[in-house]
Amino acid sequence: MLTKAKAGHYAVGQFNINNLEWTKAILLTAQELNSPVILGVSEGAGKYMCGYKTVVGMVNGMLEELNITVPVALHLDHGSYEGALKCIEAGFSSVMFDGSHYPIEENVEKTKELVAICNEKGLSLEAEVGSIGGEEDGVIGAGECADPEECKKIADLGVTMLAAGIGNIHGKYPENWQGLSFETLDAVQKLTGAMPLVLHGGTGIPADMIKKAIDLGVSKINVNTECQLAFADATRKYIEAGKDQQGKGFDPRKLLAPGFEAIKATVKEKMELFGSINKA
Ligand code: 13P
Repeated sequence: MLTKAKAGHYAVGQFNINNLEWTKAILLTAQELNSPVILGVSEGAGKYMCGYKTVVGMVNGMLEELNITVPVALHLDHGSYEGALKCIEAGFSSVMFDGSHYPIEENVEKTKELVAICNEKGLSLEAEVGSIGGEEDGVIGAGECADPEECKKIADLGVTMLAAGIGNIHGKYPENWQGLSFETLDAVQKLTGAMPLVLHGGTGIPADMIKKAIDLGVSKINVNTECQLAFADATRKYIEAGKDQQGKGFDPRKLLAPGFEAIKATVKEKMELFGSINKA
């Protein structure tokens, strides 16, 4: 999926899932737009959804029952070493091992072990160098810029894709954010060659920066907070308009519908920006 994206100069979106509505909204949008898609599951969201086996069951069930034919990856987001092993066991098709908070030697060692396991089982593996700023489900990073030499060291281990910190941050960007470091991205791409690069913290990055990042080798972009904000906003409007108190408006299938549609609209907007439409 990502090799094709890198060669075709577009990026595949990773959209994090939290529950059935999220998963269904993302899968249906990908199918409607004929786009490949990656479902991201953080360790916290995995726990919330009753464990990785429940997630695998839900996703596989939907792929079949909704007749989803576009390429879909089920990917662990910011996994620990143990979390990655659990997801491999549970039937994920892809895992991220985030060893960015370890000294580089330890990151290399642990990533190397997971490369061997993923190769044997036919999964793809994302590694990270230079932590992503902000907080996501308890994973806190300072938003540093990765050392391109360290990126090469990890890329050479045979991972499928590499997340390099380039000043990106999870969640909303602060007013005084310096923007992405294209200098770092350029240096990383020069040293890692054909390796698909991953941009985390996709929420709130201006469109021109996204385009430039794709030009410089980014082939996977992660979006989480933006879908959460869209869902919350649409749900708030529904309640504030008193619609839950009209007829059967309290039925969760009605109450959650505006949020569901808002996620679909957000995913569509991102797929348009990333250029993945009709690339299935
Ligand atoms: P945002 O929540 O900022 O969109 O980041 C998502 C992400 O990078 C998931 O790993």
